This record gives sequence, structure tokens and C-alpha cells, in this order.
Amino acid sequence: MLEIWILFVIWCFPYGDMLRRPRRNRKNRWIRDLVAEANLDLKDLMFPLFLKEGKGLKEEIASMPGIYRYSTDELVREIEQCLELGIHSFALFPSIADNLKDRSASEGLNPDGLYPEAIRTLKSRLPEAILLTDVAMDPYSSDGHDGLVVDGEILNDETVDILARMALVQAQAGSDIIGPSDMMDGRVKAIRETLDENGLRNVSIMSYTAKYASVFYGPFRDALDSAPKHGDKKTYQMDPRNRREAIIEGELDMEEGADFLMVKPALPYLDVIYQLSSVFELPVAAYNVSGEYAMIKAADQKGWLDGSLAMVESLMAIKRAGASIILTYFAREFAETLKG
Ligand code: PBG
Repeated sequence: MLEIWILFVIWCFPYGDMLRRPRRNRKNRWIRDLVAEANLDLKDLMFPLFLKEGKGLKEEIASMPGIYRYSTDELVREIEQCLELGIHSFALFPSIADNLKDRSASEGLNPDGLYPEAIRTLKSRLPEAILLTDVAMDPYSSDGHDGLVVDGEILNDETVDILARMALVQAQAGSDIIGPSDMMDGRVKAIRETLDENGLRNVSIMSYTAKYASVFYGPFRDALDSAPKHGDKKTYQMDPRNRREAIIEGELDMEEGADFLMVKPALPYLDVIYQLSSVFELPVAAYNVSGEYAMIKAADQKGWLDGSLAMVESLMAIKRAGASIILTYFAREFAETLKG
């Protein structure tokens, strides 16, 4: 009896009065494409790549299936293939041998080290590849911290001096964009001034503006063997509970001369991407980090979801939030998907 009453009420509902039917804009894929607000373009992606000493080396990272550490010769081949696929921008991270690590990250200042040598080789062989190079102490530091550790404290201003010199070495080797990933206060200004004093006015800075103290960096630290030996990074990386603090970081980076702002990680911080891209006129990049990549890969390998579709949906969400650039380990896979 109750069912009959429900049917009667539904039948009486005045459908004809419904003027607005959002489903009309979803009725087939061409209409959906016409009204799509966000679009993914290969030109917006940057591909992070890992570099290691050696020859003919291509070593898969256990927690990042499909992502490798390359020796310089193999890296040239990889980037060549990516250029053919339509990827033009690359973020390069060096994996440094333990015996070269020390407290002051001195290998990061060695102009003949693995990293500057690779930058020089890549820029001479493939000048059209845009290179974002990483400025922070952790790949070279025996403490595994982004700054100088004294009595358990990460010193700010002393670190900034080292970072500015590190940026100069990379810029002189041919880096297109310097990426300070350390979160020390005042480092963008120090780097900008050092580059300008040395006639490197055209080298850009992509500041890691809102970089959070995140568990999602785990696989990256495996890749570089760069996990902190003691303590965590909470005195310099941002607290995941904070959003408005990202505006303070953004204002400082603007004043200090950054060309791009970055939010990192991406998916757990879409609100921050949205906020920075609404507040600031500079292009906002988002770093879809190693842990975000590893989660999708792991679930895909278990057959728990379709990794390829999860990749596209995630990247699209990051664009929709307002990122103009996405750093993602999916870049090559996405390019291959487009080629069919
Ligand atoms: C460190 C650095 C990290 C990443 C990029 N640069 C890790 C950290 O801060 O410990 C993480 C990138 C990723 O997880 O993909 N300067």
C-alpha cells in the first residue's frame, strides 16, 4: 500500500516545471568535452627524474614502479625519448654516494660533481629540454636534512648562504630554473641576488612556496637515500594543518623575486593550490609527489582500481584546483597514453 502512495507522489511531481536540467550538458562525450572547465596538456607537465653516478645504469626504485635512477648517458636517452613524446620540462634530482656526503653538503658546491656535469651534458646535447634543478642540502648531507644541523637545530641563515652558492653552481652549469626545495626563510632573495650579481639574470626561480612536512615523500627518500638521520622536517616544512600560512610564504616569494610558486604535495593540498592561484598572479605549480604516485601504482598492481584512469582523474583534479604546471612521475605514462 505504501509503495502505491510513493508512486502516486512521484507521478504528481511537476517535471514540466523543471527549467534547469544540468544533465543536458553531460548527454554525450562531445558535449561534455565542449563544456569541460579543466584540460590536461602535456605542455603543462614536468617530469622528475633521478640521476646517479655510473654508466649504462637504469635502476628501478622499489617503491616507485616504472621510475628509475639513471646514469647521465641513460638520462640523455630517456630525455630524448620524452622530447619525442612531447614532454619538454624535467626536474632533476641527484642521488649522491654516501662517501661524498658530509655535514655541510660540500658536494653540492662542487662544480665538477655528478649533478653540474650532468646538467652541462644535457644542456649541450638537448638544449631544448628545460631543466629545473634542485637546491637543498639533503641529497648531499650526512644528516639527511635540507639545512645545516648544529646541536640538533637546523640553522637558517648559514644554510641560506650555502643554498645561494649551490644555486650559482647549477645556474653556471646551465640550469634553466632553480628550484629551492628547502623551506629556509629568505632563500629566494639570496639566490636571486647571487644569480644577478653573476650575470645570470635570465635564470628563473621556481620556489617551493608551500611545502608541507608530509609522509608522502617516503618513496622519494628511498630513491635518493636521503631520509633524515634524526628528527623530522617540521621546523622548516609547513604544518599540514595550516592553509593561510601559505599566503605569507607566497607574499615573501613574490617580494623576493620568485617566477613560479609551488605547492607540494598536490592531492592532499588542493585547497592550497586553489588559494595560491586565486591570490597571486604568478603561475602556480603543484608537485604530485612520490607517495601520491606510489599509492596509485600499488592499488593498480593489486587490481583494486584502474591505475591509468586514476592517474588522469588525479592530474585533472590538480589542474581544476588551479595549478598551471604539474610536476608528476606520471608524465611519461600520460604522454604514452595520449599516443595510444
Ligand atoms: C628535499 C625534497 C623532497 C622531495 C623533493 N625535494 C623530500 C623531502 O623534503 O624530504 C620530495 C619529492 C617527492 O616525494 O616526490 N629537498
